[in-house]
Amino acid sequence: MASVTIAGYRGRQITVQTGLFIDNQFVPSIDGKTLDVENPSAGKLLATVSAAQKEDIDRAVSSSKKAYESWKTTSPSARSQLILKLADLVEQHTEDLASIQALEAGTLYTESVDFHVPSSVKALRYFAGWTDKLDGLSLNIPQGLSYTVRLPVGVCGAIIPWNTFLIGFWKIAAAIGAGNVVVIKTAEVAPLWAQKLAELIVEAGFPPGVINITTGLGTVAGQYLAEHHDVRKIAFTGSVRVGREILAASSKSNLKKVSLELGGKSPTIIFADADLNNALYWASLGITMGSGQICASGSRIYVQDSIYDKFVEEFAARLRDGIHGDPLLPETTKGAAVSQSQADKVMNYIKQGKESGAKLVCGGEMLPGPGYFIANTIFSDVPQQATIMQEEIFGPVASIARFHTEEEVIAKANDSPYGLSSAVFTTNINTALRVSQGIEAGTVGVNAWGLANPNVPFGGVKQSGFGRDCGQAALEEWTKIVYSSAKNR
Ligand code: NAI
Ligand code: MG
Repeated sequence: MASVTIAGYRGRQITVQTGLFIDNQFVPSIDGKTLDVENPSAGKLLATVSAAQKEDIDRAVSSSKKAYESWKTTSPSARSQLILKLADLVEQHTEDLASIQALEAGTLYTESVDFHVPSSVKALRYFAGWTDKLDGLSLNIPQGLSYTVRLPVGVCGAIIPWNTFLIGFWKIAAAIGAGNVVVIKTAEVAPLWAQKLAELIVEAGFPPGVINITTGLGTVAGQYLAEHHDVRKIAFTGSVRVGREILAASSKSNLKKVSLELGGKSPTIIFADADLNNALYWASLGITMGSGQICASGSRIYVQDSIYDKFVEEFAARLRDGIHGDPLLPETTKGAAVSQSQADKVMNYIKQGKESGAKLVCGGEMLPGPGYFIANTIFSDVPQQATIMQEEIFGPVASIARFHTEEEVIAKANDSPYGLSSAVFTTNINTALRVSQGIEAGTVGVNAWGLANPNVPFGGVKQSGFGRDCGQAALEEWTKIVYSSAKNR
């Protein structure tokens, strides 16, 4: 089967297989169809991988179905051991995975080494610990006893975005930890990390079919996986538009369980009494990490009157600098947009921002290529109803507005179709508690932004979707509860 060799960190040669990973083997797609994977920091072709067609998804699902027959009787400790082994292997291959993400997605190598890879390893280890703890309850009923059992859902599907492989690891770890088998559909613009993972899955000793990995077009492979009658649950992270398609596909087929994580327009609220340096640190990270291509990006920033001008000035000073270019180099501090079309989308929002009556503080243009680099961009005095205050941009673009009162800022924060993440900066514990409870969001960071831990549930409310990755809450998504009842007379 075909493979590709790419040059990663310090020129290390990394070879990955380019076929579909089904039954622990790499196979071409049924009609040999492929898709091209680009390096967005160079604007150059990186690899060509197989593109799964409907027949290939059928093949992957039936492989998983067969695997489930023995997987469901595999002991929890054996399952745990396999996941722990995989975690060790992922950790040992940190440089390869971080290099691949830099090359295919434009993510800074250092960011992957410091955050994406270790967080993925932690997620695997966390869910490995759940395999033997999926207990039920015993319940008293009149003249009898009832007990519940928590069971895996069975054959599951997961559709993964391109912005970080951590999202893929969250889903795989929870799915397998809860005793399911899973068919993964990776994102067409960044599938190579999972081609590497596939090798590690074999090395860890997973039986064939427990984890199948396919790549292909969302509208073909993804859509069909979401429609598949033998798939009992589908987990998705991506755009609202596609989230709706997934829900519709479930409703038109077998009413499979669905969980959706659909991004956001997350508010960062900074009160005048906040530790300003701390707020500046997190607010900057919140819009520059992953070049703003993070579902939880702190893309709306509300700052209280009396510190507004000072904040804008110092925030701009932090965002203005940045060395863009090859994300494999340690001196690079600014990664690329994932593709030309993502960059075009962001630049179109910037254009709308310029026409919105907001003030362009810095950035607002593309940076010299090769590659798709967008200058860190700040708009201040942004009207609440401006498109750049309402829609998810998914780029390094911060929209700032001032507020006077707590009541007003809570209303503004909640004036959004989204509700994924948020952050509040204040040294007043009462303010922190009231605002945390007032914001409609799945996550509120207090004096911090974007803390992600495997034991803490992550997900949204409103149009940011439903269902949770991570934490005990994720197990609800990947298991079902059934009960038995007995009468004693
Ligand atoms: P997308 O939602 O199209 O892609 C996400 C995944 O869904 C990919 O694996 C894709 O192949 C798959 N997909 C696409 N169409 C599908 C369909 N009809 N049925 C099943 N699967 C399908 O996102 P895209 O186009 O990559 O990015 C567009 C915007 O979506 C971004 O600008 C951003 O605003 C948002 N987004 C949010 C993410 C998040 O973390 N919540 C991640 C990626 C994108
Ligand atoms: Mg790419």
